[in-house]
Amino acid sequence: MIVSIEKAIELLMSKDVVAVPSETVFGLAASIDSPEAIKKIFEIKGRPPKNPLIVHFASLEQALQYVDIEQSFIPHLEAFWPGPLTLVAPLKVKVDPHITANLSTLAVRVPNHPVFLELIQAVGPLAAPSANRSGFPSATRSWHIEFDYGGTVPIVEGAEPEHGVESTILIQQKGFFTLGRPGATPIEPLKPYFKIVEAAVNPAEPQCPGQMFRHYAPKCQLITTFTAEVEAIVGFTDVDYPFSKPLYPLGSLHDPKQVAHQLFETLRLLDHDHIKLAYVDMNFPTHGLYQTIHERLSRAIQETFNLNRELYV
Ligand code: TXA
Ligand code: MG
Repeated sequence: MIVSIEKAIELLMSKDVVAVPSETVFGLAASIDSPEAIKKIFEIKGRPPKNPLIVHFASLEQALQYVDIEQSFIPHLEAFWPGPLTLVAPLKVKVDPHITANLSTLAVRVPNHPVFLELIQAVGPLAAPSANRSGFPSATRSWHIEFDYGGTVPIVEGAEPEHGVESTILIQQKGFFTLGRPGATPIEPLKPYFKIVEAAVNPAEPQCPGQMFRHYAPKCQLITTFTAEVEAIVGFTDVDYPFSKPLYPLGSLHDPKQVAHQLFETLRLLDHDHIKLAYVDMNFPTHGLYQTIHERLSRAIQETFNLNRELYV
């Protein structure tokens, strides 16, 4: 159900939630001043309460009213905001503890989408996780939201997300940052400005609580070895695969922006077409935006494996 910006403002001001396009993926937004709407986000998505939300602001100045960002990094933020970069920093005012899952830090970003910014200007800061049902691939087209919620969640009219993968998350430590999640902003251009320490990932103690939960996976099982049972190939339009199965295209191997834009749409099309087993081509570089694509696909593969195993235990 598509609604106008005016209607969306009305809903947000009356303790309701709306799906909003951002430049990365669709968000499911609520006013940070409405505990009822924040609660609704967790209920509708089926999101574990231990997984905190990102709060979206209209400007750097507005974000600085809520978090303590180390002074020397503030000027650099001007270069990346509005844009697909999220910072996690110490919270300096009180907000609904459901937003932060009771942590003393808050994830903040300024989105680069005119509709999202217009809503924030009218309503105030908006908490918004990705709009997908928890555990499923993020929503990058409006039909993904219709599919997940059967038309019950209002979607604000506006251009669909351009990047197709979520924001990059940096977590402020004392004098440096750790990488919480690779995302639409590659790490390389961030490095000269933010001292980024790529800490070894410990799955028992992830940087972002969200990494503990099931993520990005379609129902279709994804594997990286071709077998006779495989029904489809998730791969690149400019690679010749020696298997005669339908290609679910990710775009050109040489165009990571196109691949990111297509990634979740392609994973969702597998389920839409009732494909049960697909081969995924993971033979691509791991630098820049490819790092993010690699991370999302690796998690999706891992999760479909876990899911299908669960059926047998
Ligand atoms: O591009 C994006 O970031 C999209 C758009 C809508 O802004 N949002 C998004 O939200 O991807 P979500 O909820 O799907 O992912 C946010 C991640 C989760 O893994 C969560 O655990 C982490 O951010 N996070 C939120 N607050 C945090 C905090 N205080 N400390 C560490 N991680 C946090
Ligand atoms: Mg998400």
